[in-house]
Amino acid sequence: MKTLEQLSAMIDSAVQMKNQVWASQMPVNLYQPVSYSMSAGGKRLRPLMVLLGYQLFDDQVEQSIPVAMAIEVFHNFTLLHDDIMDHANVRRGLPTVHKKFSANAAILSGDAMSFLAYGFLLECTSDKLPQIMKLFTSTALEVCEGQQYDMDFEARLDVTADEYIMMIRLKTAVLLGCALKAGALAGGANEEDADKLYEVGIRLGIAFQLQDDLLDTYGDESAFGKKIGGDIVANKKTYMLIKALETAREPEKSALMDWIMAKQFNAQEKIAAVKSIFDKLNIQTQTSDLIQSYLEGVLSLLAEIPAAPERTALLENLVHKLVNRNN
Ligand code: IPE
Ligand code: IPE
Ligand code: MG
Ligand code: MG
Ligand code: MG
Repeated sequence: MKTLEQLSAMIDSAVQMKNQVWASQMPVNLYQPVSYSMSAGGKRLRPLMVLLGYQLFDDQVEQSIPVAMAIEVFHNFTLLHDDIMDHANVRRGLPTVHKKFSANAAILSGDAMSFLAYGFLLECTSDKLPQIMKLFTSTALEVCEGQQYDMDFEARLDVTADEYIMMIRLKTAVLLGCALKAGALAGGANEEDADKLYEVGIRLGIAFQLQDDLLDTYGDESAFGKKIGGDIVANKKTYMLIKALETAREPEKSALMDWIMAKQFNAQEKIAAVKSIFDKLNIQTQTSDLIQSYLEGVLSLLAEIPAAPERTALLENLVHKLVNRNN
């Protein structure tokens, strides 16, 4: 059995090997943004989940590297397009691809990455490959659906907390579910356990996005690696904003509405004003409590997986690491 550190090292070296190829591949303007994005690091959460899902059922964990690479490349592709859609200029402490190169580069290199992801999947030798491909394809489509809801919700004021959870389930959680389930399937899990692990990934993914939203307002910019306050500026219907809209009383209610409706404003002023309304309404605590309840759901479902306790413990360790993250 491999430790979290050993599994992470396996992922890093697989990514590094491919990066060397992309860094010198022609045409340069197509592949350089790919290696730029893939070498910028990030938490590598999803490939780790693939390996952890696999290792619950089998020791030949290197067998799941192609699936892990596929999901990480796909994830990075979504970020290239997401940063255009969100007008985000900084990621992982570096200029985003559309800023460093161009919007065209982020679009086309992103497209290329989605096909590179399929290429990695096809390197997987598991007899479960057709099922994994099917899962990956439906997941990728769901991520697009989630991203569309995310955009649509920017322009609405009546988004409910349930709709928000539905949206983040699609844009974020299904990929974590897919990572765990695909790893488990490649490792030989039966349908029932693979499905349970999918649900573990969903709950973890919902907690993960809630926390990303929290960090977008309350995080430390240099640790987070993204610009703080982008969600507030864009009127993203986060759980925080939805709760604030639901519970604010006058004069905060009108102030919040004015900031949301404002066409021209100073971004820092808007961020500070909305944040102070969140603070007044105790939004941070409410969000943390919701994150906690999803994480409890993760741990209780994980306890039902009939794998050796030291193997499920690695997933528990990962969950605890994520709770305390600042990036
Ligand atoms: C960013 O994902 C997009 C979200 C779903 C919040 P990560 O926070 O996993 O990004 P990296 O890969 O670690 O940079
Ligand atoms: C992104 O959500 C989810 C996907 C990329 C599919 P966010 O827009 O919150 O992610 P960040 O904060 O830019 O990483
Ligand atoms: Mg974004
Ligand atoms: Mg987004
Ligand atoms: Mg975010």
